[in-house]
Amino acid sequence: MMQAAEKAPKPVKQLDHRYEGISKVTGKIKYAGEFSEPFAKSDLLYAYLVQSTIPSGDIVSIDRAAADNSAGVVTILTPFNAPKLSQAPPQPPARRNLSLLQDTSVSYNGQPIAVVVARSLDEAKSAAALLKVKYAPKPAKIGLKNRLAEARWPKDPGKEPAGNHRGDAQAGFSKATVIIENTYITPIQHHNPMEPHGTIAWWDGPKLNVYDSTQYITGVRQSLAKTLNIPVDFVHVVDPVVGGGFGSKGSMWSHVPLCAMAARITGKPVKLILEREQMFGPVGGRPSTVNKIKLGASADGKLLAMQQDVVMNASVMEDFVEHAEGPTKNLYMSSANSVSAKIVEANLGVSTFMRAPGEAPGTAVLEIAMDELAEKLNMDPVQLRLVNYAETDPSHDRPWTSKNLKDCYQQAADRFGWSKRNATPRSMSDGNAWIGYGMATATYPANRSAAMAIVRLLPGGRMFVGSGTQDLGTGTYTIMAQQAAAGLGIDPTLVEVKLGDSTLPKAPVSGGSQSSASVLPAIQDATSQLKLKLADLAIADAASPLHGLKTLDIDAKDGKLFNRNNPTQSDTLTDLIARNGNKPVEATGSAEPAESKDAMSSQSWGAVFAEVAVDKDTHMVKVRRIVATYDIGTLLNQKTGHNQLMGGIVWGISFALHEEAHIDSVYGRVVNESLAEYHVPVNADIGTIDVSTLNIPDLKFNPIGSRGIGEIGITGTAAAVANAIYNATGKRIREYPITPDKIMLA
Ligand code: MOS
Repeated sequence: MMQAAEKAPKPVKQLDHRYEGISKVTGKIKYAGEFSEPFAKSDLLYAYLVQSTIPSGDIVSIDRAAADNSAGVVTILTPFNAPKLSQAPPQPPARRNLSLLQDTSVSYNGQPIAVVVARSLDEAKSAAALLKVKYAPKPAKIGLKNRLAEARWPKDPGKEPAGNHRGDAQAGFSKATVIIENTYITPIQHHNPMEPHGTIAWWDGPKLNVYDSTQYITGVRQSLAKTLNIPVDFVHVVDPVVGGGFGSKGSMWSHVPLCAMAARITGKPVKLILEREQMFGPVGGRPSTVNKIKLGASADGKLLAMQQDVVMNASVMEDFVEHAEGPTKNLYMSSANSVSAKIVEANLGVSTFMRAPGEAPGTAVLEIAMDELAEKLNMDPVQLRLVNYAETDPSHDRPWTSKNLKDCYQQAADRFGWSKRNATPRSMSDGNAWIGYGMATATYPANRSAAMAIVRLLPGGRMFVGSGTQDLGTGTYTIMAQQAAAGLGIDPTLVEVKLGDSTLPKAPVSGGSQSSASVLPAIQDATSQLKLKLADLAIADAASPLHGLKTLDIDAKDGKLFNRNNPTQSDTLTDLIARNGNKPVEATGSAEPAESKDAMSSQSWGAVFAEVAVDKDTHMVKVRRIVATYDIGTLLNQKTGHNQLMGGIVWGISFALHEEAHIDSVYGRVVNESLAEYHVPVNADIGTIDVSTLNIPDLKFNPIGSRGIGEIGITGTAAAVANAIYNATGKRIREYPITPDKIMLA
């Protein structure tokens, strides 16, 4: 392949363990809600968020007498006494319509309507139960499938337009030999990171400090400053480790400024942690999508036209578009396509990004339709994808920076044993189970933003690297240590890493799979600067063996600076810094996407194969095996990288079989707002997962050659499972999750 022949960077030495692993399992490193300093721990107050119990209307009154007199209560914030904020809730960068007790309107069931602050969490919670809220209800908009006629264009579709046409789709369909046309549905889903959202806030005069569980410390800092109308410099945000975010912690939600407001009023540090059920509404979720998909192909399988019209629910508070039509625009080289994304307003919490926004539901639906098309053409599903392989980006008519998806199909099919598949449904069985094989394509865009980093050479030849990025449990610490070490040619175990503190140089949101692709080039730049400084230090130092050389003659390796022209002439970093009085030498670096970025498209790819066993009586589905191969550029760390991809695959299985938020048709509340009833897989639900990567650097995308991998794992997996279920049972289920009742009744 062309990309493989390009000059690859020297492989970076990998850490074989997670940088922060030991400090996590020993409890040494703290999650946001665990801090009890620098304030006096005895001063800490606990806030409990009170939520509305109607979906639409106004709060007429809140009788708080009993709650005020309840033990331990310090203060209660309601729309009737909360401090008036001097400006409307933030638009970008928060891009969320928040509930900050500024008025009495209720837009969804579960909306924050009060905050009770007490000496203990138990006291806050029991006082909250004593609040008597009187509402004037209004008719609520509930449901999606029954209200498709109300669909409208979104006011703010986000980055992508809500409609897009290429070529003449109708002409394509009229020429097609084979047409597939069906409706595919994905449900409302909610993020369920192990660590719930939570904030501790305290004021130091006019300055605000917060520990906050977030994917974006800089975003929280800016949003808090804007919401509370204080200078950005007065806000300090800290979050050393995040217990998962998946998009729900990518923007600031109401509880964060509410916690800060409570801290200001009480003059004390206040902790506000959401309970699990409070995660189903006030902090976003993935909307349900109803997708009408039509594919037309000639007899040889060539796509002549693709059409996808999506209708999804959106909160009455804010239009958020889940771009499920994305893959139909760029995954295959059809002659024409036509897509649209519309919304139906509902009295629900605001929707937001959720792992692989757009591509997760998008591949889940399109890749079933492709399987149906392959069957109707009597063609192997892999072959159909190869016939329509997009060598360039069809949606922008420009080249990819790198694409090796064909190798993914090949490698994963071989590892899976796809050639043993019998395409006839119900032709394979094992004991009392039908066995099915299915496959699908995975894809997610490669994103990158401006980032900065700081590095220091420390006494003893150790290093420090810092950047205002986040580690969501994904491996940011680990790959930062590796990259910094590689820059000076030292062992990665000698590097101390700091992130998750808004005083560090700025980095982007850890969302859109962009942290590694953005931050590592900044570290690379910083270590280059540092190497030059150290070289100059050695050159100027009469005691250095490198004294008097030229800067460009000096390189670093194995803990030493050396003369490129005579490698035995060297100076150890330890000696160099010792002669500098053990004073650290520091450099900062930055990196941003190339100016030419709009001339090419960058995207990651994968091929996912699934084997399922479906019980002939109960119709319970067991995913026995997933085999997936990804083209994600350079694999930065074997352990954390494979772990990320596997996590995504597990979520893809969950998408296929388990997850769905049920909305009460009268009260509009998520009925199953707990992990007992909102099903996510446990270990027993997951079979073997075989992940591999091609590890071909994408050097046109960034100098490290790596594209982000936080989200691609979930894409394609759900459809591979759905297609395997069809192969096993002959039942084509087009509505997720694919539960036993749906298979039974189909
Ligand atoms: Mo991701 S949904 O951008 O955290």
